[in-house]
Amino acid sequence: MKQSVMSADGPPQRAIDMSGQAMPNRSPRVQQSIHGAGEKRRAPSLGHLEAVAEDESTTVTHEALETESPVVEIDNFSLYYGAKQALFNVSMNVPHGKVTSMVGPSGCGKSTLLRSVNRLNDLIDHVRTEGSMRYGGMDIYSRNINVIELRKSLGMVFQKPNPFPMSIFENVVYPLRIDGEKRKNVLMEVCERSLRGAALWDEVKDRLHESALGMSGGQQQRLCIARAVAASPDVLLMDEPCSALDPIATAKIEDLIQELKGEYTILIVTHNMQQAARTTDYTAFMYLGRLIEYGPTLDMFTKPRCRQTEDYMTGRFG
Ligand SMILES: Nc1ncnc2c1ncn2[C@@H]1O[C@H](COP(=O)(O)OP(=O)(O)O)[C@@H](O)[C@H]1O
Ligand SMILES: [Mg+2]
Repeated sequence: MKQSVMSADGPPQRAIDMSGQAMPNRSPRVQQSIHGAGEKRRAPSLGHLEAVAEDESTTVTHEALETESPVVEIDNFSLYYGAKQALFNVSMNVPHGKVTSMVGPSGCGKSTLLRSVNRLNDLIDHVRTEGSMRYGGMDIYSRNINVIELRKSLGMVFQKPNPFPMSIFENVVYPLRIDGEKRKNVLMEVCERSLRGAALWDEVKDRLHESALGMSGGQQQRLCIARAVAASPDVLLMDEPCSALDPIATAKIEDLIQELKGEYTILIVTHNMQQAARTTDYTAFMYLGRLIEYGPTLDMFTKPRCRQTEDYMTGRFG
């Protein structure tokens, strides 16, 4: 199992590469693991809107999720920025090999939850968490976890593309460089495979050694995805990866997400409801730091079980 993520000697490792991007993965793939129980409430299958929460602190989770194998299990997770609580008892399992979106009005805690999964919130002062998150069965918040290894397995793509001021080639192979890889053929092979994986190879193959900063925004975002992919993660965490892009670039990233699905588990934050509908298998609706409802995307749009979900999905607020 994923022993390498556990550090032998105790204290949590807070170091991170300069981008927060995933780094090369030398660890075995995650195994199937146990379901987290948490505060989830099984949605009664009584039909449309009949499961309006009597107790708003619990989540209505559709039973379809029970048939999935979870990669990340979030169990009763709360997070505080100082005195301010940003997440309230969130429980959700992220299914293996699927695309799961997190939606909800601005400020409801989507980015906070996403950052919690690979412990990027460690970098923010006065953050305190309660509850648990597991990855491949291991406690992400354990003192013994190797955070660097964890972030190799759970790669992050940010809202704003963050290419490094170096060549396209060096950007892609950066995770391998960090690991000390020097063999030209290995670097070239990973570079090409990752750029192909990110649907960017044909556009840049003749200018690999030019600066990445000269690329368009959409190309830069695909480059950042290529860099994340080069690290061979299990899970890609994406925080509104298309929000800074024009519709054509957005369409390319959406196609790419479809292609990456299956090989990777994708957890994506979006405020674009059409994008969630087009590209994702499951949708989690968050509101005021709580996970309100979680189910198959189609059902979340066409027959949500909570009034708040319906109001948000149909554009009545947010
Ligand atoms: N670094 C931070 N320090 C303090 N409060 C924060 C920080 N980041 C986010 N918050 C607060 O936490 C809440 C959730 O924010 P965020 O996770 O960014 O929401 P979303 O991504 O859904 O827009 C907001 O009230 C926001 O102001
Ligand atoms: Mg956000």
